[in-house]
Amino acid sequence: MSAMASLLFHLLCCLTVFWLLPLPSHSADPDPLQDFCVANLSASISVNGFPCKPASEVTSDDFFFDGFTQEGNTTNAFASFLTPGNVLSFPGLNTLGISMNRVDFAPGGINPPHSHPRASEVGVVIEGKLLVGFVTTNNVYYSKVLTAGHMFAIPRGLVHFQLNVGDGKALAYTAFNSHLPGAAIVPLNLFASSIPNEVLTKTFQVDAELINTIKSKFRP
Ligand code: GLV
Ligand code: MN
Repeated sequence: MSAMASLLFHLLCCLTVFWLLPLPSHSADPDPLQDFCVANLSASISVNGFPCKPASEVTSDDFFFDGFTQEGNTTNAFASFLTPGNVLSFPGLNTLGISMNRVDFAPGGINPPHSHPRASEVGVVIEGKLLVGFVTTNNVYYSKVLTAGHMFAIPRGLVHFQLNVGDGKALAYTAFNSHLPGAAIVPLNLFASSIPNEVLTKTFQVDAELINTIKSKFRP
């Protein structure tokens, strides 16, 4: 290779690296293009996110949320309750790329296996004892039992859960790098949706009776 060709080759490599470098640091949601954009949840137009409420109508209340002051009602099949603090309950988060949940657990309660298509998750246990686990796309399982003050991280899109393994109640707060991380709850996706029984019997290699028994657990 001539000296000129080699120089051009190296220049091209450097440019490629400089072009690629910023990509991994992009957040899950796009960066905001203004100080704030309090969501107008009732706007008739549909965009990627929500349109902004006019700045002249924005008040302090738009940036504060008291939805986490009450303990969630854990009297349900999973014995847990998740209170979302995302753009739908807290419109001031629109375009900020962040949100949180409060998760309450009765003894034995579970936040069942689910994944967030649009965000990674971090969490901190405030009270009680939680088994926190996730599974990779290679089916490798990572888990730990956590108590108050311990934090965990769940990579974006991976199936994860929390199970209260203590004697009393448990409480955790979670946070996301999306204003609306979304949650695909595995048992509900599969057994509370209208996926045909034939798909489920073939997938799990069991008979329709068993599938119907499981489905019956998720009927209102
Ligand atoms: C916990 O996994 C949560 O999604 O809040
Ligand atoms: Mn989660």
